[in-house]
Amino acid sequence: MAQRLHIAFATSELVPYVKTGGLADVSAALPKALTKLGHKVTVFVPRYGAIPYPPGEFVGSVHVPVDAVHRSAGYYVARPAKGLQVVFVEHPPFFERPQLYGAGNHDYADNRLRFAFFSRAVVEYFRSRGERPHVFHAHDWQTALLPVYLKAFYWSDPTLHRCPTVFTIHNLAYQGHFPADTVGVLGLPWNLGTRDALEYHGGVSYMKGGILFSEGLTTVSPQYAREIQTPEMGYGFEGILRSRSADLEGILNGVDYEDWDPKTDPHIARNYSAEDLSGKAECKADLLRAFALPVEPDMPVVGIISRLVHQKGFDVVVGSWWDLLERPLRMVVLGTGEPDVQDGFRRLAERAPDRFAVRFAYDSALAHKIEAGADLFLMPSRFEPCGLTQMYSLRYGTVPVVRSTGGLVDTVEPYDARRDRGTGFRFDHADGTGLVWALDEALAAYREREAWQRLVKRGMAKDFSWERSARAYVGAFRRAMAKV
Ligand code: ADP
Ligand code: GLC
Repeated sequence: MAQRLHIAFATSELVPYVKTGGLADVSAALPKALTKLGHKVTVFVPRYGAIPYPPGEFVGSVHVPVDAVHRSAGYYVARPAKGLQVVFVEHPPFFERPQLYGAGNHDYADNRLRFAFFSRAVVEYFRSRGERPHVFHAHDWQTALLPVYLKAFYWSDPTLHRCPTVFTIHNLAYQGHFPADTVGVLGLPWNLGTRDALEYHGGVSYMKGGILFSEGLTTVSPQYAREIQTPEMGYGFEGILRSRSADLEGILNGVDYEDWDPKTDPHIARNYSAEDLSGKAECKADLLRAFALPVEPDMPVVGIISRLVHQKGFDVVVGSWWDLLERPLRMVVLGTGEPDVQDGFRRLAERAPDRFAVRFAYDSALAHKIEAGADLFLMPSRFEPCGLTQMYSLRYGTVPVVRSTGGLVDTVEPYDARRDRGTGFRFDHADGTGLVWALDEALAAYREREAWQRLVKRGMAKDFSWERSARAYVGAFRRAMAKV
């Protein structure tokens, strides 16, 4: 085997400990896939209030300079599998809180310090132990300062001397945008506050730091890698992303089929497979009961599991309430987010309580039941860096209806009845007309039972396992290592 790598993986979310979105799934599954390829991975996550104390074996604490206050990080290690360690970074003033990023709809006011601290604590873990990983792998704005710290303070450190970083963009829309005084507050060299470095619209952007100071740059689908280099989707970063396009790779996320497979899923009413789909009907009945809807086997059920935020486009769905009421479908919604979208769904459920049902909660077991019990799965995203739930749906024989954007383009092939091809339904315009058009196509196809079964089975046969993507990441790590 080629050289065995030690990858230091810094993330703000991690299944099964803390999750708000797909980053948590990826942070569990990708390291696991990397260890299966023979590499060693140390995953770092803050020890938030939601993670029981002590989360692992205490292995020491270190002073971590971040602002004018003397602060230290405690490190707790768990070893869930061979080659894999999870290091929980403890600093109660920052992380002993009920939520990850904020309370209600407000971000915590000290997020710039919390995640600067976390990023630097990851680096200090290695420096203090005299240990050098081959590469750091940072994710999204929360750990985007990691390569900035490496360049600013550790580039000629005896231990961490010229240690490279691969930075993965899971969502360019969240940028870690903070006031201009942040550079001074963190004690970073003044020139990091300039236009050529972290400066962004009069403040500083941690995301920009990750993009500029990492040797390797990836995002979570090939299509999104192209999109973020355009003015429409680049949030002003399109120029720097284009200037680094040779180092920017779109690597599609995978699915952890140990967690998401109807053959083995412990959360669903009956297991099933493409060879024997009979259990799916039972899962549908179970889902309808869970949402207190009447059980009518032939009426198609549209499932939704999502953060209900602008990105995901559900305002368009609730805006199309009249068209939805007129169609022969049921809809089950699981999600949390914007009050307007929740209100819209609530009104739909009040108008037709026998056909629309909502649960404004975060409920992992119910998410599995929806994947298994629904016939269609709706993702009208305005943008979608990758999206995991459409890939889960495919495996569960639940046909995705998605907007043509980002990873949804790379994972859902449009249905073509004449040629008997494709795995789902796609629409281009993020408006009611596009959405209703695609739903009508899907509802018409649903009535052709035999062709529908073939469509379902084509989706179930798709393989998005992590191995291929993990190999692509190893390639990105090695290229980053070759650069320093
Ligand atoms: P994003 O990361 O943008 O939210 P993804 O599709 O990548 O979108 O990942 C979303 C993940 O979060 C999936 O694992 C999905 O099942 C889960 N999820 C989202 N909302 C809920 C919810 N209300 N209850 C349970 N799981 C949810
Ligand atoms: C982000 C994106 C989502 C992606 C996930 C994991 O939350 O919104 O599309 O699947 O990260 O990479």
